[in-house]
Amino acid sequence: MKGIILAGGSGTRMRPLTDTLSKQLLPVYDKPMIYYPLSVLMLGEIRDILLISAARQLDMFRSLLGDGSRIGLRIDYAEQDEPRGIAEALTIGAEHIGGDQVALILGDNVFHGPGFSTVLRGAISELDGCVLFGYPVKDPRRYGVGEIDASGRLRSLEEKPDRPRSNLAITGLYLYDNDVVDIARDLKPSARGELEITDVNQVYLERDRARLIELGRGFAWLDMGTHNSLLQAGQYVQLLEHRQGDRIACIEEVALRMGYISADACYAMGRELGATGYGEYLVDVATRETSRTARPSRAEPTGP
Ligand code: DAU
Repeated sequence: MKGIILAGGSGTRMRPLTDTLSKQLLPVYDKPMIYYPLSVLMLGEIRDILLISAARQLDMFRSLLGDGSRIGLRIDYAEQDEPRGIAEALTIGAEHIGGDQVALILGDNVFHGPGFSTVLRGAISELDGCVLFGYPVKDPRRYGVGEIDASGRLRSLEEKPDRPRSNLAITGLYLYDNDVVDIARDLKPSARGELEITDVNQVYLERDRARLIELGRGFAWLDMGTHNSLLQAGQYVQLLEHRQGDRIACIEEVALRMGYISADACYAMGRELGATGYGEYLVDVATRETSRTARPSRAEPTGP
């Protein structure tokens, strides 16, 4: 499966922060926002990734992430010259998708919760059509909204409805089979002039090939479209990291845990970051991994 991260947009709601910097590079506590959606794709075992952003911002992403090989990925870049809608990512990315399936994720979405990687990997391995992830929110009018029936089947989808039929927001992570390339190509702009991702999902729903997975209580889905939501996401990450000692969306650690890089490579990246909390964390994670793998397993004979 291929991955696409959409990290463009005009960022007007967050000016002047976004006058020179891409929104998706703003700090969410201790790391750039883009690390969060990137780590989601990595946890889904997706290693071939296209990052789409505005032309003036692409160089910043390139200098941060390079070609991805440092963390065992392949990252390519493409331009969206105008924010014509989320679904445009699928036509810009058509060549990247090729004949494959694709996971599209918005560059300003954070997903965090127990068992999420397992849920994600399960959804990818069983993908037939499209999979959406629903999350209960207090004000669904700000989102795409999904309505499910008593058996949990998806019944309707609406983009930012005035009168939502449920409180289930459709989050910014979408899994599609290869039909999505044709569906996106045939799409017409909506009344607000955008190529709507909800219209893509609607086609799958009409074909009875859309599935919704509910991310329930205890799960955190955050999107960062305003100063307040950016700050809240940072506070969430700070709280959990301080309490538990583990870092959320630390892409080098994820690369190590997924077997994309060696403990030595992780260690070296930590050292390169110098005396920073993040660097020390990487050194620590790598050192623990090295001693874990060096320890003889109990089944092995340990000598005479
Ligand atoms: O976050 C989930 C929601 O994302 C979904 O529930 C909605 O169905 C979906 O339409 C979208 O709603 P938003 O109001 O959050 O969309 P927004 O226009 O703010 O775009 C989301 C991100 O995608 C934002 O960081 C900017 C980026 N973007 C957006 C557009 C329209 C692009 O890079 N290019 C674009 O053309």
